[in-house]
Amino acid sequence: MRAAKMIRAAAITALGLSFLWGCGEKETQDPEKISVGVTSYNQSDTFLGELLGAFKEDLEELERGDLSITVTIRDAAGSQRTQDDQVRELIGAGCDVLCVNLVDRADPSEIIDLARDNEIPIIFFNREPVAEDLMQWDKLYYVGADARQSGIMQGELAAAAIQADSQIDRNKDGKIQYVVLEGEPGHQDAIIRTEDAVETLRDSGVKLEKLSYGIANWNRGQAQNRMEQMINQYQNQIELVLANNDDMALGALDAYEKSNITETSLPLVFGIDGTAAGLEAVEQSRLAGTVYNDKEGQAEAMAKLAVAVVTGEGLEELDIQEERYIRLPYAKVTRENVHEFSCNQ
Ligand code: BGC
Ligand code: CA
Repeated sequence: MRAAKMIRAAAITALGLSFLWGCGEKETQDPEKISVGVTSYNQSDTFLGELLGAFKEDLEELERGDLSITVTIRDAAGSQRTQDDQVRELIGAGCDVLCVNLVDRADPSEIIDLARDNEIPIIFFNREPVAEDLMQWDKLYYVGADARQSGIMQGELAAAAIQADSQIDRNKDGKIQYVVLEGEPGHQDAIIRTEDAVETLRDSGVKLEKLSYGIANWNRGQAQNRMEQMINQYQNQIELVLANNDDMALGALDAYEKSNITETSLPLVFGIDGTAAGLEAVEQSRLAGTVYNDKEGQAEAMAKLAVAVVTGEGLEELDIQEERYIRLPYAKVTRENVHEFSCNQ
């Protein structure tokens, strides 16, 4: 009895000691905590919603016994002022690294100054600051893709489809009557995608006639609106719709669904992104094709870079060009290979 008591007492003392010892080691044994602050230009953007979903999952996967990661995401709702305030607040709350999807990609100076004054690295993503701004400080990065490549690929997809099917030129005038649905003016992906898609089509020998264009700011509802106006004006003359992203391509399809244009007079519609809804529309042959904007790759690069810039480990494993840029390649998506992409989702 006495012996048992003594053993128990000894065990309790040992526990207590190990507890105290644990406390003493606190500094080195606690996991390193990384707090990531994110602000995006507009929460309702489909592509960014999917990208940030993947980003959160990637950060969770990067957690280890000795590393815990928290992430705070803010929506700037289209206001650069709001975004500047959010950055101030995120820095004030103690974040270690910022991921910024600029509202106005030409106006990052306030954010850069705030971050530099507080020694907080910034990973810009999806909306690319001009090179001079990115060169202002060596803790600034950009993760995205090469807009030209997406335009060229969209042009190649359209050229291949037109050359494979003489019915696309419905009025048999030897030219393809087309319209463009454009993203926000000033966004690196809007003008460049349009120019390169059209140039690639021309270079492939396709004769083109531009009927009209509409600016729809990446947005499905706005695209439907613009497309309805163009259908009113041109009825069944439109043979090809080039949209700067999938949401606007889907908006064009919405407009056609509401119109009195018969199925045999529908144009070919191409998007860019490969969002869940975009891929589904390719699968159903409602979209003739899209160009995959590798959100999983971009999210993974952002997550790894965020951890690397804070811990100082793993930077060399990332494919960083010109000390600042990580760009993921685009890929062409058609009915034939769409399953390779949809199973990624
Ligand atoms: C995507 C668009 C998105 C835009 C937002 C582009 O790269 O293709 O879908 O709306 O980025 O900045
Ligand atoms: Ca024609």
